[in-house]
Amino acid sequence: MGEMADKAAGAVSGARQWRRLMRLAELGAIPGDGVNRACLTDLDRQARRLLAGWATEAGVSVSVDEAANLWLRRPGQDEAAAPVLTGSHMDSQPNGGRFDGIYGVVAGLEALAALHDAGIVTHRPIEVVAWTNEEGGRFAPGCMGSMAWSGHSPLTTWSEVRDAEGIRFADALAEHLRAEATLPRRPLGPIGGPMGSPPHAYVEAHIEQGPLLEAAGRPIGVVTGIQGSRWFSVTITGDTAHAGTAPLALRRDAVQDMLRAITALNALTADPDDVLRFTVGRVTVAPNTSNTVAGQASFSIDLRHPDRAVLLAIGDAIAPTIRAALRTCDATVQETFHALPAVFDARVVAAVERAAAADGQGHMRLASGAFHDAQFLVPVCPTGMIFVPCRHGISHNPAEYATPEHLEAGTRVLARTLLDLAA
Ligand code: GLV
Ligand code: MN
Ligand code: MN
Repeated sequence: MGEMADKAAGAVSGARQWRRLMRLAELGAIPGDGVNRACLTDLDRQARRLLAGWATEAGVSVSVDEAANLWLRRPGQDEAAAPVLTGSHMDSQPNGGRFDGIYGVVAGLEALAALHDAGIVTHRPIEVVAWTNEEGGRFAPGCMGSMAWSGHSPLTTWSEVRDAEGIRFADALAEHLRAEATLPRRPLGPIGGPMGSPPHAYVEAHIEQGPLLEAAGRPIGVVTGIQGSRWFSVTITGDTAHAGTAPLALRRDAVQDMLRAITALNALTADPDDVLRFTVGRVTVAPNTSNTVAGQASFSIDLRHPDRAVLLAIGDAIAPTIRAALRTCDATVQETFHALPAVFDARVVAAVERAAAADGQGHMRLASGAFHDAQFLVPVCPTGMIFVPCRHGISHNPAEYATPEHLEAGTRVLARTLLDLAA
């Protein structure tokens, strides 16, 4: 086993992986080395097709499910055995970097290619999955592909969600599946999946998106879990009025009430320990013209905390806090994403740790501040993640960067972990 793992890790090509990452980064390239590759766009399709082409070269079969999750499967000796899964996402933030998500998918394929090149056949099949719409940048919320697959929510939950152009998620998905009609289809979900049972385990590689590994000088993060997230979509409704004539006392100004609401939320979420994360990242105003009092203002809330009780209590206080802060307008508050803190399986955490040690990589345990598709695998099968450092912890930013050496180290550890789990 040790010898085989050394062989697999030795067959990982950091150069091939880097070449592929840089080729994929051309699809949706934006100034400053960034990427804007929204899910279910033509760019997303081009990226998936490149990946599928590389997969076929490594003897891996390709299929797609009803949520457009893309599956690459390397057969095992026992095709009836529950597969080991790895993967991540290929969509990016609108102002995203070259590594968030796509690294885990390319690393998964690189691990399979390494097994192929080393002539290793595992007992269990190994599958790489590219989950649809992890980012939620085009269609909110994120993680739709993994939530639908894991049974967290039915796929139809998001049919009516629209992007900035007014395109429905259901229509973008249908268009994508029509464009990919030549790909074999597989059922959505672990139950009723090809093997009729949940996967044996899931392990996802990702850049850390935070500063801890870099500060500690360790190339490998053994991830112990993910903090919880809740998203809300808030719409404040007042009345449009003439900016030159309407007295302030008579206005129902949606922007002014939005400011009151956000100020009250800042007070609600203030945390002297700086553990809680509260972000208003998207604001839209209508009719959005200088000389009309805004009749409507909408904003997003992203709330995160590692402690379930705090996440639930603060999240539940959001709607009443907003309503109490409004002076003249009305508000609707809709929760669009609810992911409780996730704790990874001790066996997968231990397998990653063993793999890092066997590979001679400095490593440390840490929890994830970002959410990941892995969160939704936790109720389905033993799950874990591998992190590699990214420069200054910067992510969701074109300047996001990880060194080829760290990315290779992560993939070596992934290959060892997959072999361990699939042996
Ligand atoms: C993932 O992209 C996150 O926002 O944590
Ligand atoms: Mn990601
Ligand atoms: Mn992201």
